[in-house]
Amino acid sequence: MRWFWGVERPDLYEILLRSTDPEEIIPAAIRESCPWAGRVALDIGCGRGDFAASIAEEAGSVVAVDAAPSMVAADRRNMVGRSGRFAAITANVENLPFADGSFDVAYALWAYFFGAGAEPGLFECERVLRRGGRLCVVQNNGGDGLSGLWSESEFRCLEWPEWFEQRGFSRRIVDTVWRFPSLDQGTALVRYLWGEGAVRRLLRSGTLTFSFKVSLYCREVGGGTPDSC
Ligand SMILES: C[S@@+](CC[C@H](N)C(=O)[O-])C[C@H]1O[C@@H](n2cnc3c(N)ncnc32)[C@H](O)[C@@H]1O
Repeated sequence: MRWFWGVERPDLYEILLRSTDPEEIIPAAIRESCPWAGRVALDIGCGRGDFAASIAEEAGSVVAVDAAPSMVAADRRNMVGRSGRFAAITANVENLPFADGSFDVAYALWAYFFGAGAEPGLFECERVLRRGGRLCVVQNNGGDGLSGLWSESEFRCLEWPEWFEQRGFSRRIVDTVWRFPSLDQGTALVRYLWGEGAVRRLLRSGTLTFSFKVSLYCREVGGGTPDSC
């Protein structure tokens, strides 16, 4: 399992969630490419579960999994008072506790599928998705205002498209924005994630709003055809 800093710093994870795509352009793009209405959905690496919670009412049902128990607990708290058929489970995407063909669609938002090394999780998605099911992965694309805050050459997202394209995923680049809720919160998050150089670039920019691009990778996966992984 890949360590996630938000487990130790839920305060900063909250700032990140509030800063990411405030106009909700990304969920609208996912809905177009990989619809969830009436479907049995899996959210892989759900974190605090905001995406799973947002689709639960429309989906036939949603199971949200995360390898970190504290994230699953946050996810369950997040669901209190919301409607929809929903379950949150602690599980590793490489070894999912579900029968073959259990899901119509699976989503992984900024989770697990970081290019090379993600083959076991893709293999497991082949198993738990039904034939004709779809896997949709959202990842940072780079080449935007936000990534200008840190050194992009150190950021592996530039290598990821090749990994997905070699495995038959389509790629759609979605343009949205990143908006820090306040300078104090932006500074705290940027300092923690990217260090003092990035804080200086943030302060010099004179803005809290940055262009933000994500890649949306989709592929028909499922029906137990692991050769294609
Ligand atoms: C960057 S967070 C994204 C969380 C959430 N999808 C979101 O958009 O806020 C990545 C999440 O993936 C989880 N994760 C990492 N490796 C995993 C694995 N092998 N199986 C399941 N979850 C994993 C982490 O615990 C973390 O909660």
